[in-house]
Amino acid sequence: MRILGIETSCDETAAAIVEDNGTILSNLVLSQLDEHRVFGGVVPEIAARAHLENIHKLVEAALEDAGVALSGLDGIAATCGPGLIGGVMIGMMTGKAIAAACNLPFIGVNHLEAHALTPRLTDKVAFPYLLLLVSGGHTQILIVHDVGHYRLLGTTIDDALGECFDKSAKLMGLPYPGGPHLEKAARQCLTPAAAREQFPLPRPMKGRTGCDFSFSGLKTAVRLHIDRPPPGTLLMNDVAALACSFENAVCETLVDRCENAIIQFLGNNESQTPAFVIAGGVAANNALRTALKDLTARHHMSFIAPPAKLCSDNAAMIAWAGVERLGRGMTDKLDIAAKPRWPLDPEAGYQKQVETT
Ligand code: KG4
Ligand code: ZN
Repeated sequence: MRILGIETSCDETAAAIVEDNGTILSNLVLSQLDEHRVFGGVVPEIAARAHLENIHKLVEAALEDAGVALSGLDGIAATCGPGLIGGVMIGMMTGKAIAAACNLPFIGVNHLEAHALTPRLTDKVAFPYLLLLVSGGHTQILIVHDVGHYRLLGTTIDDALGECFDKSAKLMGLPYPGGPHLEKAARQCLTPAAAREQFPLPRPMKGRTGCDFSFSGLKTAVRLHIDRPPPGTLLMNDVAALACSFENAVCETLVDRCENAIIQFLGNNESQTPAFVIAGGVAANNALRTALKDLTARHHMSFIAPPAKLCSDNAAMIAWAGVERLGRGMTDKLDIAAKPRWPLDPEAGYQKQVETT
């Protein structure tokens, strides 16, 4: 089985072709970073226009790269949400049009499910597993029971982790997008213990029961350090130290929250080979990977982190979600609507109040 995947929910226009054995025949991502950089964040209308201009080129290139004709496909999968609605509509309508023209099944993919299923593409992880999803718009801990069957254990009550990375990096004067630049700056710091003393930061929610997160206070604490008089005098060394202290605070917070989730998961879980999976753009962060790897080792769980290219937004994960769904006969009619919000666990009522897109 061969699926074309299309992703346009944020600021990456992407198309990929994936086989049901997990072979990625092509995986193209066109980033709109340059268009959004001057604004310091993603501008939805600019994103939608850029998707519109490029999506057909990306699909053609993905087919060519894979050496596959439209007649060699078995289905079309496109992100139908959650995300910026203008962009979602463009990818979804492109996918529907190809499906209709070629008489192929259409699979409307939940972008979050695609992140959640990526470790099955890369590592053939068996259900159930524990997932930490950390991206620019989402911070969630879920039990992945099966395709379409998720239980939310915790989510952020304010900012998403990627958002906190990006906003804190901006405050530090680092380029957009902040996450990877902040990581690079932190790596320049050779004295982490001294950095923590120079720039003490909170560990929001640490020590509390449950698995929810909060990051807006951390961002504010970064701002207070930067605004400390005299303003505008942060030296390169100071930025490195602040970034290092920030990463340390994030890691400690995540380890604390994830440990609660691990205890809950292992307490109720019949799996003989329990796995902890990290996904989403922030999963590319090496300090985070190391901290979570140590945590999971302490609980005798395997730690799975897909390669960075498949952690950030891409279309291979959308095609793979299409493989998983089509294999189970879970296809969609062409009247499926685009959804700006689309929680993985609709039973988790409180998520509706706190979910960011
Ligand atoms: O999953 P993703 O590509 O797009 C969304 O669906 O949001 O995640 C993008 C987020 C951005 O906030 C970006 O700054 C963050 O992931 N990110 C990182 C790193 N690489 C990307 N954050 C921290 N460290 C990184 N190395
Ligand atoms: Zn994403």
